[in-house]
Amino acid sequence: MCGIVAYIGEQEAFPIVLKGLKRLEYRGYDSSGIAVNNNLNLNLLKKQGKVAELEKYAEEFDTSGTVGIGHTRWATHGAPNDVNAHPHLSGNGKFALVHNGIIENYAILKKELISRGHEFKSETDTEVLMHLIEEIIEKQNVSLLEGVRQALNEVHGAYAIVIISKENNQELIAARKSSPLVVGIGKDEFFVASDATPIVEYTKNVVYLEDGEIACISLDSGLKIKTISNVEKTPYIQELELQLEALEKGGYEHFMLKEIFEQPRSIMDCMRGRLNLKNSSVALGGIKDYEEKIVNAKRLIIVACGTSWHAGIVGEYLLEELARIPVEVEYASEFRYRNPIINEGDVVICISQSGETADTLAAISLAKERGATILGICNVVGSSISRLTDCGSYTHAGPEIGVASTKAFTAQVTVLTLLALMIGKKKGTIPSNRFNRILFELNSIPEKVEEVLKSDKQINFISDIYKDASNALYLGRGINFPVALEGALKLKEISYIHAEGYPAAEMKHGPIALIDEEMPIFVIATKDASYEKVVSNIQEVKARKGKVIAIVTKGDTEVKAIADHVIEIPHTDDVLVPLIATIPMQLLSYHIAVMRGCNVDQPRNLAKSVTVE
Ligand code: AGP
Repeated sequence: MCGIVAYIGEQEAFPIVLKGLKRLEYRGYDSSGIAVNNNLNLNLLKKQGKVAELEKYAEEFDTSGTVGIGHTRWATHGAPNDVNAHPHLSGNGKFALVHNGIIENYAILKKELISRGHEFKSETDTEVLMHLIEEIIEKQNVSLLEGVRQALNEVHGAYAIVIISKENNQELIAARKSSPLVVGIGKDEFFVASDATPIVEYTKNVVYLEDGEIACISLDSGLKIKTISNVEKTPYIQELELQLEALEKGGYEHFMLKEIFEQPRSIMDCMRGRLNLKNSSVALGGIKDYEEKIVNAKRLIIVACGTSWHAGIVGEYLLEELARIPVEVEYASEFRYRNPIINEGDVVICISQSGETADTLAAISLAKERGATILGICNVVGSSISRLTDCGSYTHAGPEIGVASTKAFTAQVTVLTLLALMIGKKKGTIPSNRFNRILFELNSIPEKVEEVLKSDKQINFISDIYKDASNALYLGRGINFPVALEGALKLKEISYIHAEGYPAAEMKHGPIALIDEEMPIFVIATKDASYEKVVSNIQEVKARKGKVIAIVTKGDTEVKAIADHVIEIPHTDDVLVPLIATIPMQLLSYHIAVMRGCNVDQPRNLAKSVTVE
């Protein structure tokens, strides 16, 4: 949600910041802007639309200078237009600020500032913060750092900010609270960004700012950190593991397609070193110290949003079936506002690809306050959530750039499967022959995903038939119900077709009224415990002339005889079906969206990491 990039050093700042914004564009893409200090002025360029628009627009202007800040926006306060785009200048034009987050008390502050003579150009909360900083500096004759520090003590809400000054091209100030910010340390140069993706090609040494910290980055004195309550901190430098190639499209037309096709590898990476066939065991290093607590948990509460929440529901089935622990799955945004009951012995599992989702972060803080042990399942190494949890497992899916989550979902489900197996084995709730069978099957999932990916052509053909639908229904039962939810979410977020996911048997309680000969109904009808029931649900659809596209187990004949189309997937254990049944759903959404001319990697109104409430 909004991407920030800043550079200070000896190179030209503009191209570095621009390139960084392109890498961060998945975070927000309704407008963008860059300010560069050219030693005389703060040159400000802002443009509605994608970063490419800004790049084109900038061709006619002076962009020289060795310190600059940039921003790609996902609008919260004020429409996405040139004026509301960041950076925002102070009233006296001496400072420029970029901001990610929301200043919740901006309306009161704005009123007060207007009463003291300030005039505003935009509708943003960011411009209010900029004026507040300016006022403190002017009135008290303090440094930029001190002005920022005092202003941040007056604001409520979330922020990651970077600010530069017209009069000093040797310094920039950055600060964060509830919105991520990383400082990259190069040789005589520094980078600041919302995540490490714009930094990795220049340096591997980074410092993740903590909440309430302000970084003063100076070409003379280096990186200094203090808190907003004025306590000096020692920067903790970490080495990035991220590889540059992982951030490129690698020959695919879109990141989403690349990420779908990466799944055999990402699932394998997720299991690597954790699943051991030889000694028939599962080890999750990141939760070792809390293993006893988790194994003996009275209840598991899973909190997450969106696709990660769907993975959580798959987790509920897995953990209840294999580990026999009661599980509740909550939307993080609801959990935090409903005074949840957390008892001793409860373990909270939070799932997040980005590790920065504001609602999930807030849910964790609440659960922590109430004494729960928190286990995190995150993809982004070093993210806020991964640092806030007591223990956890990274999903190791690699950077996911497409806004629609694909490989992160299957990696989350893989971790949850390993967790359920690990607990089940320790508790003795899985008979050893079943444990071994599932372990063996899990190990073969990457191969089976590879096999499903070979159906891409057939899926492309089916997509062409249904690309003009206005509505779609997704049905699944048991552990495949969340797969239906995820299928529907994928379709709606990237193709803008209205889609609903339902437990197949629920259809007759309402959604059946929607069915007519125009309506595609995607059904997961694999050979498992509920197969016969799902076949009956398909009959109900066909009786109303709905079009059925069924995902079936290889060799199936019964569904083939009644469905309009079938997509075959290899047989696996019932509890592992979501890992492969999801793949055709992802491909169907992808192809339909491309055929409808939608921007699959950057769908309208969305952003990759939702760092506001
Ligand atoms: C998935 O395709 C979405 N774009 C979205 O629902 C996402 O899963 C959700 O915002 C949660 O994000 P997180 O996993 O990074 O916390």
